[in-house]
Parts: sequence; C-alpha cells; structure tokens
Amino acid sequence: MPQNNQKSNVVSFSTNLESEKEKSGMDQIRIQGGYALNGDIEISGAKNAALKLACACLLTDEVLTLTNCPNTLRDMRSLYDLLKHIGVEITEDADTAKFHAASIKDKTAPYDLVRKMRASIMVLGPLLARHGKARVSLPGGCAIGTRPVNFHIDGLVAMGAKIELNEGYIEAEAEGGLAGGTYTFPRVSHTGTENLMMAATLANGKTVLKNAAKEPEVVDLADCLRAMGAKIEGDGTDTIIIEGVEKLHGATHSVLPDRIETGTFLIAVGLTGGELRLKKTNLKSLSALIAQLKDAGVDVTEDGEDVVVSRTGENRLKGVDIMTEAYPGFPTDMQAQFMTMLCLAEGAGMVTETIFENRFMHVPELCRMGANITVQGNSAIIRGVDGLKGAEVMATDLRASVALVLAGLAAEGETVVNRIYHLDRGYENLVKKLSNVGAKITRE
Ligand code: EPU
Repeated sequence: MPQNNQKSNVVSFSTNLESEKEKSGMDQIRIQGGYALNGDIEISGAKNAALKLACACLLTDEVLTLTNCPNTLRDMRSLYDLLKHIGVEITEDADTAKFHAASIKDKTAPYDLVRKMRASIMVLGPLLARHGKARVSLPGGCAIGTRPVNFHIDGLVAMGAKIELNEGYIEAEAEGGLAGGTYTFPRVSHTGTENLMMAATLANGKTVLKNAAKEPEVVDLADCLRAMGAKIEGDGTDTIIIEGVEKLHGATHSVLPDRIETGTFLIAVGLTGGELRLKKTNLKSLSALIAQLKDAGVDVTEDGEDVVVSRTGENRLKGVDIMTEAYPGFPTDMQAQFMTMLCLAEGAGMVTETIFENRFMHVPELCRMGANITVQGNSAIIRGVDGLKGAEVMATDLRASVALVLAGLAAEGETVVNRIYHLDRGYENLVKKLSNVGAKITRE
C-alpha cells in the first residue's frame, strides 16, 4: 500500500462528500455500445495545469491572461468562485480568461468553496507570498484517498511561515514576507511542488525544492511564472531552484493540452476500434502510456499538431502489466481507463497503483459489466473476457467515471452511468465529442 509520510499533524480529514442538494441534480449518460469511433476530436487545455495557472494571478496586481483555458470545467468554475471571493476580477471569452487580482478582499478560502475541489489549496502559497497572510480550509480526503497536505505546510514552514491549524483551517503568516529555504519532499507531490514553487517566486532569497515533481503541468506553470518575471530553474527535473523577486507582472500564457484527456481518447479507440485524429495535442508527455498501448496492440502516431490513433477490429488486444508512478512513469490518472481496456484483452494483465491508496473503485462496477478482475492489496489482475455487457453503473471519482463511459462504448447493449457530475469536473463536452465521432451516447 502507498505510505503517506506524515510530518505535521495534518493527518486525517473527513470524507469530502458533496451536498445532497448537488447530488439530487444528477444527470445520467446513456450509451449503446459496440460502435467504432472515427473522426476528429479537439483536445482541451489541461485541467491540472489551468487550475494552478489561474491561482498564479494572486501573485501580481496586473492582469494574467490564459488562453486554451478549459473554462467550462466544473473544477474551473469552483476555482473561479473561490478566486472571486478572494477579490479577483475574472473576464472570460470562449477559452480565454483574464484574471485581475488588483487587491485582495478576503484572505480566507472558506470550507464551503474548498470542499468542492481539493485544488483550492493552491491559493495558499500565492496568498501567503504576496500578502503575508492566508487562511485556507483543510481540503479533506476524497474518494481516492486521504490526500493530506502536510508537504505543502512543511515546505512553507521551511520558507519561514508560521502555520497553525485551527478549527479545520490552515492559518499561515509570514510577516515581512517568506524567506527562501530548502525543502525536500518526503515523496513526490505534484500540487505540493507547484504550491511551493509559486510561493517561492516572491520570497526574500533562494528556495531549493528537492525530490520535486517533474510533471509537464509543473513545467507549464514555471513557464507562465517566468513570463510574469519569476526566476526559476530546474523545472522538469527533481531539483527546482527559485530566486525570489520583489514583484511579478502580468503575462499571457497558453495552457498546455490535456494529456489525460488525450490518453482517454486513445484508450477509447483501443476499446472500440476505428480511427481518431486528436487535434491540438501531442504525445510528448505520454511515453509511458504509449509504450503500453502499443504493446497491447493500439497504433498511435503523431502527425504535425495532431495525434492519430487506430485499431482494426481484427486483432484482439493483448494483456500487459502497468504500475502507476510519478511522472515520467505511468500516470495514475490513466489507470482506471487502461484497466477497462485490459478487461477485453487476450490473456491477463496486472495493474499496480502506487500513488493513491483507494483508486480501484471502478473495479466492482466493471465486474458488474462482466469483467474478471481480482484485487490483491494495491494490485489488480485483469483476466480478459470475450465481451462486456451493458449495465447501470455508478461512478465515484473523475477518472473512474470516464472509465465506465469507455466500458459502455465497448459493451454489448445499453449502459447507464450515474453520478456523472464527476465527469463535468474534468472533461469538456465529453458526450458531444464522443457522439461527433460515432458513439451512440446521450446525456439525460
Ligand atoms: N501526499 C502526502 N502529503 C502531501 C501531498 C501528497 O502524503 O502533502 C501524498 C498523496 O496522498 C499521494 C501522493 O503523495 O499519495 C502523491 O500525491 P500528489 O500530491 O502528487 O497528488 P496531488 O498533487 O494532490 C495531482 C493531481 C491528481 C493526480 C496526482 C498525481 C491536480 C489538481 N491533481 O494531485 O489529479 O492524480 O497529482 O499525478 O493536479 C485527477 O485529475 O483526477 C487527479 C486526481
């Protein structure tokens, strides 16, 4: 089982359940399976980059403009609510958003806004760096694990912040600003790295982050911060060095393409057969996934600014083994989708999850559709079956939800996916994008 290396006393939080009111407005997705996918799909800007890039606006009193920004995602809407509460003016036009944090009205990120989305913790570093004070609700656990934020806190303390935990809130203060410092992450943390990197841009002196995350979203954030005047080196490696500057200024930045959305459609074709051209994306950050997809029998190539994926129905997929790891390893955010594909492969495949302790919740639902999966600790053995059968299923988190949609595309008969508000958090126009390329899918 993955171990969380706890240092501060931020350990366990209650499960982040969404309110009954939100749940009652539940839509469903209905899918008639068995149709190959053929055509073009445009990939959106990456959720896990855009969320942090938008928080970077808190570091300057000038305007930050993001293009290729997935404004319609529910997670982006939740973040915009929080940023507006803090005092940021946001103007949007299609996939462009302008953020202006001229002044800060409220340095508190309240529980009601934070509980909707864990990435709200990303306002902590920037608020503290620019304003010397921040009060951010602890985000709580979620369906995929307890997900503590002790590294974010310990890292800010290493940079001179005074932090107390009171009544479920992180109360942070850095009178006279943050000082530079060195922090070694006990284990690689994607948002932890980004939060500290943003905070360090305005610190007095040099900050060194060791065992830092190397995800492409971290590099995209560093690119944007550099365009705002920050001095950062080493992003994309495990040591990031940030020389604090007095002030950051406005900039315009294009959000990088969503590698997880790209990977999800690659697997969709693996499951259904056909040929898709994925536009405005690339395979640069997907090598671990592509190697495994090719081994399983899916053809993937780059063509200019597009990616082309195909599989003919004649050859059956082959079972392969995967293990999730921090970047550049196999992404945990692709694990549920890949497992779904293995359900229909010839032979067996093994999936080992090393990032989150509870990320197999799609397994019982896939089994209800006829999959043969046995879970042992943090590994699952998937023995390929000849076909999946449509069923009514329920999703528990974002990537598990999309995995059930993929299963429905390949299953015989009708699949109804419930609780799809999870999908709205991270996939723009999923139903439209899929129905445009031949899927029989509707939202009700
Ligand atoms: N961890 C700690 N303490 C911390 C931070 C992390 O113990 O202070 C542990 C976590 O519990 C986990 C491991 O370290 O076991 C790695 O977690 P990490 O911090 O890297 O995850 P994250 O930053 O919270 C981001 C993405 C996730 C993605 C992971 C891994 C965002 C907003 N979220 O989460 O995305 O799975 O990195 O790549 O960027 C998703 O999009 O569906 C999603 C869950």
